[in-house]
Amino acid sequence: MYYIGIDLGTSAVKLLLMEADGRIANVVSKEYPLFFPQPGWSEQRPEDWYAQTAEGIRELVDGFDASKVAGISFGGQMHGLVMLDSRDQVIRPAILWNDGRTAEENDYLNQVIGKERLSEYTANISFTGFTASKLLWVKKHEPENFARIAKIMLPKDYLAYRLTGVHCTDVSDASGMLLFDVKNRRWSEEMCEICGVKPQWLAKVFESYEVVGSLLPGQAKLLGLPGQVKVAAGAGDNAAAAVGTGTVGDGRCNISLGTSGTIFISSEKFGVDKNNALHSFAHADGHYHLMGCMLSAASCNKWWMDDIIGTKDYAAEQDGIQRLGANHVYFLPYLMGERSPHNDPDARGTFIGMTMDTTRADMTQAVLEGVAFALRDSFEVARSLGISIESTKICGGGAKSPLWRRIIANVMNIRVDMIESEEGPGLGAAMLAAVACGEYASVEEAAAKIVKVTGTVEPEPELAAAYEARYRQFRQIYPALKELFPKLK
Ligand code: XUL
Repeated sequence: MYYIGIDLGTSAVKLLLMEADGRIANVVSKEYPLFFPQPGWSEQRPEDWYAQTAEGIRELVDGFDASKVAGISFGGQMHGLVMLDSRDQVIRPAILWNDGRTAEENDYLNQVIGKERLSEYTANISFTGFTASKLLWVKKHEPENFARIAKIMLPKDYLAYRLTGVHCTDVSDASGMLLFDVKNRRWSEEMCEICGVKPQWLAKVFESYEVVGSLLPGQAKLLGLPGQVKVAAGAGDNAAAAVGTGTVGDGRCNISLGTSGTIFISSEKFGVDKNNALHSFAHADGHYHLMGCMLSAASCNKWWMDDIIGTKDYAAEQDGIQRLGANHVYFLPYLMGERSPHNDPDARGTFIGMTMDTTRADMTQAVLEGVAFALRDSFEVARSLGISIESTKICGGGAKSPLWRRIIANVMNIRVDMIESEEGPGLGAAMLAAVACGEYASVEEAAAKIVKVTGTVEPEPELAAAYEARYRQFRQIYPALKELFPKLK
């Protein structure tokens, strides 16, 4: 049997065809546009997601026996607000996870409703990217759109809706809406009331590995798939990536270097960071996780390479880097503001420390290091909670770079385990589909049988010590600039 994993990302949808034993038979990627209508805003068209996914599925199964496809599931970019009207039409482009327009609504939720109440109802506080503040923004700035809402959903749930006609979501993705009672895995009536959300707008909540329905006959025909293909709820992309890297059960860690950068810590027990600097979300394995999320990670490198220095050959550019641990140029990777741990939509990207002898390679290195240092900020929050992490898995586009993996291992001073495929969310999504179809008894069993570590990057004591000193300097830059950022308009 085959299982299809759909990783609905920010730059592209990546589709993966998995055999029952976890072998990857085919991978297809389809891009779609990302719009920045104003600085700090970020939108996409749900219709583009669907069109490229449908096209991608047809390409993915081309040349394979499509009658053997048993299940489909998703790992989706989280938090995006998709609104449908009473005729199931998309009301406006989706407002994405890295959109910073809702600073005012975010302050209202955190300061007027209050962080304590938010944390009591949802286990989290508000961040500009979370869905609740977006709804308040639409209510205030686009009342005509707000009045048309018949359903709200998250990005991957729009795909499930188009494929099955079922209005569904899963516990991990719902956790990032700030409308969900994470501990009890159900919608929070209090939060829905605060945000003016009507109960009939909300989707039915599933565990990530549960079947939500089968393909609609018209969809099956269009995609060239059998009608009995089951669709499983899937997960937010980070929880799906955790499944795909075997970060399930208790106390495991995964770092994702995608458009965003995340540190994900799985936990069998529900827990909240008392300052809510880390998100406390439900996991796709039936348990929970803590997560720190930076808004621009591999996207900083992509921006630097593609848009600024104008090259597509990332590896050649990185070959010129010789002075690990000795770079006095620093880069703050806050190109879209920052979520964890600063919660500051006004923060901006910054190079600092250049001298006349600074080279292009030093600046490329600073970008890679700046992302690693910013991830370490979330890692420090986890450490301050008494969580001890000695090793991590790694996935996402950035994980393909051996140099970046080495920088991460030394900046964090932990072992970095590489897995066979860095397609974390796509593989995790296919694994969730396989569990939903009964191929494996649980997500943990699927992970134990499918995920294979292919190598480990060990931290090097001298280099780790050099990076420790550099990190202490990095940590002083944001506080020094914090007051200035909002004035740079
Ligand atoms: C997680 C988050 C990002 C997106 C990226 O909270 O906002 O990782 O899910 O797709």
